[in-house]
Amino acid sequence: MLEINNLTVVAENKEILKDFTLKIKDGETHALMGSNGAGKSTICRAILKDANYQITKGNIIYKNKDLSTLTTTDISRLGIMMISQSPIAIEGVTNAEMLRMALSERTGKHIDIFQFSKEAKEICNKLAIPESFLHRDINSGMSGGERKKNELLHIWMLKPSFLILDEVDSGLDIDALKIVANSIKEYQQETNCAILLITHNPKLLEILKPDCVHILADKKIVKSGDSSLAKTIEKEGFKAIYEEYVIERNLTNE
Ligand SMILES: Nc1ncnc2c1ncn2[C@@H]1O[C@H](COP(=O)(O)OP(=O)(O)OP(=O)(O)O)[C@@H](O)[C@H]1O
Ligand SMILES: [Mg+2]
Repeated sequence: MLEINNLTVVAENKEILKDFTLKIKDGETHALMGSNGAGKSTICRAILKDANYQITKGNIIYKNKDLSTLTTTDISRLGIMMISQSPIAIEGVTNAEMLRMALSERTGKHIDIFQFSKEAKEICNKLAIPESFLHRDINSGMSGGERKKNELLHIWMLKPSFLILDEVDSGLDIDALKIVANSIKEYQQETNCAILLITHNPKLLEILKPDCVHILADKKIVKSGDSSLAKTIEKEGFKAIYEEYVIERNLTNE
């Protein structure tokens, strides 16, 4: 279970989130939606303790640990992984080197090269990724779509228990989107991982079927509902929801 309690997040002296509260149980998928600049990527980065974002109030708890006491590496060891809009390339480190090192870090054990190689090749075949990807520098020289598939390889090898998908659909054509989304769904069914999903893409929402949809506006979640809320947003936009929230807030303050 991930618990975000009354979080205030500041970047460059600007308050981006205030009183942000969200709870996600194992195996659940929660979609976070909101207009551009609402703060969706900020919450993803705050969970991973990006140094550009300061948490000035509230806390984030995962597996009964307060993340404020942990480093980004420790948070990753706990099983939280993010796939961002544009995964960065890392020159000079191959996928295989990074994955073997990360697995060894996580398990505290030496990773047998033959066993690793067998498993990695099986996953490449399952994802229809060339085995040569294993020996390429991380995301280097890869197209946008290839990078996303490469990140899928990381998911299946490192087996996170909490996945943050920040606009994972961007840059994917419709076929690639279906492959990536179905693979993530299959991974979730196999491992019961939780997912925080940031997207506006109806196809991705249809495949990943969120248990809850939350609307971020005014620095916090202003409305939550089931997957039908995403359909309402598709039809009516965020403006109507925001106006409804402002009316309710003004009535409460009167
Ligand atoms: N490091 C930073 N320094 C200063 N301001 C920032 C920083 N990161 C984000 N912001 C600002 O915080 C606000 C929220 O940004 P964020 O990237 O979280 O929005 P978003 O909801 O992910 O938007 P989009 O849908 O466009 O991806 C924006 O106004 C942005 O300019
Ligand atoms: Mg964003």
